[in-house]
Amino acid sequence: MRQAGRSLPEFRALRERHSFFDVVRSPELTAEVTLQPVRRLGVDAAILFSDIVTPLHAIGVDVEMRPGVGPVFAEPFRSEDDLDRLRPLDPESDLAPVLEAVRILVTELDVPLIGFAGAPFTMAAYLVEGGPSRDYARTKALMIGAPDLFRRLLDRLADLSLASLRAQVEAGVAAVQLFDSWAGALHPRHYADHVLPTSARVLGGLADLDVPRIHFGVTTGELLGLMAEAGADVVGVDWRTPLDRGWARIGDRAVQGNLDPSVLGAPWPAVAAEADRVLEAAGGRPGHVFNLGHGVLPDTDPDTLARLVDHVHERTEGRA
Ligand code: CP3
Repeated sequence: MRQAGRSLPEFRALRERHSFFDVVRSPELTAEVTLQPVRRLGVDAAILFSDIVTPLHAIGVDVEMRPGVGPVFAEPFRSEDDLDRLRPLDPESDLAPVLEAVRILVTELDVPLIGFAGAPFTMAAYLVEGGPSRDYARTKALMIGAPDLFRRLLDRLADLSLASLRAQVEAGVAAVQLFDSWAGALHPRHYADHVLPTSARVLGGLADLDVPRIHFGVTTGELLGLMAEAGADVVGVDWRTPLDRGWARIGDRAVQGNLDPSVLGAPWPAVAAEADRVLEAAGGRPGHVFNLGHGVLPDTDPDTLARLVDHVHERTEGRA
């Protein structure tokens, strides 16, 4: 239920007084907004409040969080010279407030805390496009036209993600999620050749830490088998792929998903029926983490979210 906070009046009220990165720079505010959806909804885990661009912001890259749009970069990545702007991350100093927030949260929460980072491709797509994009044309042109430079860019971003994730685990998060949200824009061959190896390096670099690793992207139906090869313990499935079909592609790993966030706008009986269809597709097999197929939409009624959590708990009671 990522971005569940967006639908909550208490989150909106806080955001009227503080900018996005003001929240991220304050351990107390980060802890507060991370706790808000957990208090209201009764979910089984919390996700740290931050963003995939936080490590970039922390090393001094000029990025602004535009409401309703997302991250926007003042100087998009264009050439080899821009690699120098991506200096290595020193988590204990660069991410000090984030790590302090994790330390506060693990003492306050009675559910596990999930940490996260952006996967190298999705961060590269934001850097190269300068912001959100429909077709990722510049990113793909760089990938195909200058594969060595593209790989060096992904390698720098992988170092950032890995350093950030390892530090979050050391500070106390119980699981990590690698968001490759825009990987679904890629042809499977391009994903396998240009993206999978660097994501696999991030996931492999966490193997010794003994925390579950979740790997997620949107519109990745065709890529699920390859994403599973990248080495996570859990692979997320968005709502466009039936969960059982996605699971068959993922194979012998756990899955997370995959209720369409838009159905939450329908009257309750329809929401419940759609949730039941997801549970049926999972068929009671162990290793299904019920979740939405992507983030909560801002207009979602928080009471519907709370009711959904109760409903799934009732339907799965007694299961591991
Ligand atoms: O659930 C949570 O609130 C936890 C924290 C979280 C945020 N961003 C906070 C946020 C997480 C896990 C993310 C990850 C993230 N950020 C991803 C990967 C996951 C996914 O959804 O695919 C991506 C692609 C981003 C980039 C980004 N940042 C987008 C697309 C947006 C939304 C723009 C919008 O308003 O629709 C953001 C801004 C953002 N990050 C908000 C929040 C709560 C929006 C509200 C605000 O500005 O305070």
